[in-house]
Amino acid sequence: MTLSVLIADPWDGYALLDSGGGRKLEQYGDVRLVRPEPQAMWHPSEPDLWDTADTRFEGTDEDDGPGRWSDPVGDFTVPIGPARMICRLGSNHHPGLFPEQRPHWDNAVAALRGYEGAEVLNLFGYTGAASLLLAAAGAKVTHIDASKKAIAWARENQEASGLQDAQVRWICEDASKFVAREVRRGRHYQGILLDPPKFGRGPKNEVWNLFDDLPPLMADVSAITAPDARFVILTAYAIRASALAVGRLMEEVMAPHGGSVEAGELALRERTGRLLPTSMFAVWRP
Ligand SMILES: C[S@@+](CC[C@H](N)C(=O)[O-])C[C@H]1O[C@@H](n2cnc3c(N)ncnc32)[C@H](O)[C@@H]1O
Repeated sequence: MTLSVLIADPWDGYALLDSGGGRKLEQYGDVRLVRPEPQAMWHPSEPDLWDTADTRFEGTDEDDGPGRWSDPVGDFTVPIGPARMICRLGSNHHPGLFPEQRPHWDNAVAALRGYEGAEVLNLFGYTGAASLLLAAAGAKVTHIDASKKAIAWARENQEASGLQDAQVRWICEDASKFVAREVRRGRHYQGILLDPPKFGRGPKNEVWNLFDDLPPLMADVSAITAPDARFVILTAYAIRASALAVGRLMEEVMAPHGGSVEAGELALRERTGRLLPTSMFAVWRP
């Protein structure tokens, strides 16, 4: 296993402007946000810039909030390659797009280059950025999320992106149940992405607890990985675990497929060049 830092650089649509004091200042499209970021234990490098924020999240950095934005801001859009992601502020601090994942998405698109009609599974797919980028590149994507609201938002993003013809099956379903069923059906995928939360609920109130439920899910993911697969990409946030542990799990379940595993941290590169860690990952490649 190799260990690395996968860095998301700013692009025309998103930038980490500054961080520090337990918060981060970001540009999402036309809107400037301040959000909690407990890992930013240093000082901001441009304190005056923070006065230019349009709105600030006052509350915890937990996925389900609670908290509130200081000033109302209507929907705004972040362009990312061929996709247009609608961002929307609610009762938690997530605007609807995880920019640190961009290197994963670009790598997945690159890995499928030259493969016509690859089947891709996007588990815990949220608002659909990975699904839309891969479908725009020609993959047939199956997108799974337990939240009806997230599925509806992802469909809105498809519409806003003008990607109505891109092949995505949007399915509201529990990720573990769906994959177990795909194992029984003997289905296979050339690419699989998983972005599980620490805790979650399936549509029928099925409990998702990452430490208990990820190992069996990963075993099933291995079983539906096609012999000619190009990637399995796993991201994990806000858990007390090491990238080594996430990488070791990936190595174990993917051993029958050969290949290699890279694990490490995802980080956003600030304008000043400083890196802000966001999450850990493990990637399998043939
Ligand atoms: C926001 S993404 C992941 C982001 C990131 N990993 C985090 O924890 O902040 C998590 C997605 O998983 C979905 N989800 C939670 N439990 C699920 C389950 N059991 N099956 C399928 N999707 C689930 C949520 O609806 C959400 O859209």
